[in-house]
Amino acid sequence: DWRMGSFVEDTIKSLREKIGGGKVLCALSGGVDSSVAAVLLSKAIGRQLTCVFVDHGLLRKNEGDEVEAVFGPNGPYELNFVRVNAQERYYKKLKGVTEPERKRKIIGEEFIRVFEEEARKIGAVDYLVQGTIYPDVIESGLGESAVIKSHHNVGGLPSVVDFKEIIEPLRLLFKDEVRKAGLELGIPEYLVYRQPFPGPGLGIRIIGEVTEEKVRIVQDADAIYREEIANAGLDKGLGQYFAALTNMRSVGVMGDERTYDYAVALRAVNTSDFMTADVAEFPWDVLRTTASRIVNEVKGVNRVMYDLTSKPPGTIEFE
Ligand code: XMP
Repeated sequence: DWRMGSFVEDTIKSLREKIGGGKVLCALSGGVDSSVAAVLLSKAIGRQLTCVFVDHGLLRKNEGDEVEAVFGPNGPYELNFVRVNAQERYYKKLKGVTEPERKRKIIGEEFIRVFEEEARKIGAVDYLVQGTIYPDVIESGLGESAVIKSHHNVGGLPSVVDFKEIIEPLRLLFKDEVRKAGLELGIPEYLVYRQPFPGPGLGIRIIGEVTEEKVRIVQDADAIYREEIANAGLDKGLGQYFAALTNMRSVGVMGDERTYDYAVALRAVNTSDFMTADVAEFPWDVLRTTASRIVNEVKGVNRVMYDLTSKPPGTIEFE
């Protein structure tokens, strides 16, 4: 795509001119937007850029390592990469907390705190990078009349980090253009086509209290679900899909044994704007294979259900 090619080239050039010898800080989530922003900066200014990646222990299975493989010291890009393994901190803060909005608040605030500590270690920076894209710019201008869920994103960072200016290299791009730019920059396809993942992560896909064991269950179930969807060649056609852990346990039987274990919910939706969503129609055999693999392979689960609710009245995430 020649248009994206020249966008990438022009942006790198103008970032280089603007930043000069300055120091730049970036909060990397591993999502498409922050990844593309980080690579643009890395190409422009190399090691003047530091990316901080916070692993809050609520990421999908292996996600932390995948992000590190791309952006870490063994990856293809020149930049300073800081991975903060903050799992324990988050689990401790979330212990005993069941109310969805409180969980979201705690995860968001803890993120700011962890990031602030890292920023302090790095010292004075000149610029803060954000992966804001055009739809974010429009949305923040509108404002929602009723807060249904408090969103966790990096919006709170500017207030706790000292810097001269925010850099938003993607602020004029739509999502599909960000993806094209990512491909142009040589970012691996699995990152470029990654489905949206909420800031609070698995914290809002585990109904009720978050524990390490529940995180392990939902990670394993979700990994199986994604694998089966990819095997069936359905991954590009679905909007968003994931496994969630209901807070419900029920009686089952395994061999001759009675079990009393959790029920996993599978969700898949198609959506154009994430404000409304339709439940995805799913080939029965893929669902059956997924369900039987989950109960057989994931300890602590004896039941699997498929969520048939559209949005509204459901939401895409569970909390
Ligand atoms: P809901 O559950 O509100 O989700 O129907 C709509 C879309 O937003 C994503 N989502 C979030 N994204 N921070 C994010 O960056 C958040 O706190 C958050 N909560 C929900 C959700 O994955 C879906 O794509």
